[in-house]
Amino acid sequence: MERKILILFLSFCFVSHQSLIVNALVPAVYVFGDSHVDAGNNALLDTPAQANRWPYGIDFNNITGRFTNGKNIADFIATYLNLPMPPAYLNLTDAQKSQTTTGMTYASGSCGILTTTGAGKCLRLAQQVDSFTSTVTKDLPNAVNDRGQLQQYLANSLYLVLIGNNDYNEKMSQGKVTQYPPSDYADLLLNEVTKQITTIYNLGARKFVVLGISYCAPQNYTIPDCRSRYYADKLPQTLQQLECKLTGSKFTVYDYYQVYSKITANPQNYGITNLVDPCYPEGGSVCPDRSKYFRFDQYSHQTQVAYETAAKECFTGTACSPLTISDLVKA
Ligand SMILES: *[C@@H]1O[C@H](CO)[C@@H](O)[C@H](O)[C@H]1NC(C)=O
Ligand SMILES: *[C@@H]1O[C@H](CO)[C@@H](O)[C@H](O)[C@H]1NC(C)=O
Ligand SMILES: *[C@@H]1O[C@H](CO)[C@@H](O)[C@H](O)[C@H]1NC(C)=O
Repeated sequence: MERKILILFLSFCFVSHQSLIVNALVPAVYVFGDSHVDAGNNALLDTPAQANRWPYGIDFNNITGRFTNGKNIADFIATYLNLPMPPAYLNLTDAQKSQTTTGMTYASGSCGILTTTGAGKCLRLAQQVDSFTSTVTKDLPNAVNDRGQLQQYLANSLYLVLIGNNDYNEKMSQGKVTQYPPSDYADLLLNEVTKQITTIYNLGARKFVVLGISYCAPQNYTIPDCRSRYYADKLPQTLQQLECKLTGSKFTVYDYYQVYSKITANPQNYGITNLVDPCYPEGGSVCPDRSKYFRFDQYSHQTQVAYETAAKECFTGTACSPLTISDLVKA
């Protein structure tokens, strides 16, 4: 009898503390990144990097703002965590910002790690982290007013830092990527990403997924387009050192090459028949069956089926190491 009462009491406490989602694996997912995880921030910014028009969102009730035909990587990861898809930070009113406790995305297409990377007024990583600072210091205390509870909430939540593709794009980086020896350029990016992650950590975050951005095989430095390999090869050690320095932090590296090589080696396993052509070439017409394509547009954006595979490969597959997201959230 007493036992029953205790259980009832405990479950009641659980529900009331988490005015959140009861069966979610983490309280929230916060997203930093570029177009692969932007959910509409750019649509509200003065930048030429836009997905604010049809056929972007064609397989997602025509909701525009995502750089694909449907859902993106962050949407799928949030869904696997039983959380709502993270809304775009800039698309929330002040009242919504104060009430949203399941996470959001600060990601912005065409932007990157360095403040010099980006087209127009997209949000640089430092600006994204400034917005998160505002979320933690101004908005969240309205919904979670106990300080200890807020720290618990932040420590148990998941942080996706999926950025750096544009720092390796000649045009988006304003040519900076070729101005440095590749090893030095990787160090420059890693220093900045380390600095920003440390700020996120100091605000209370502990569990991070960080993108190793390369589409090239490990240590394959031979082709100019594989400069990003220097970053990818150095990232695991950088994060290991950071984990030692930042008490209680946990990092996992998201190796996108693993995703890319799996899909390209056996596209038929994913129902993909076209790896090369964009489904929607700018100015052209959109392909009738998006689920058969790997690339959505002629930039680097992929189709929903590719993003779904990418999310699965990190959640339970082999793309994220040393921990899958499924293990990271339990750690
Ligand atoms: C922005 O918010 C409005 C109102 O809630 C919604 O209708 C719209 O779909 C949102 N846009 C994006 C890109 O999520
Ligand atoms: C999406 O927009 C296209 C083009 O305007 C239209 O043909 C289609 O019916 C719309 N689909 C939905 C689900 O609203
Ligand atoms: C490394 O890059 C070269 C040049 O593109 C390519 O031919 C080779 O297959 C790559 N090696 C691996 C292991 O991916």
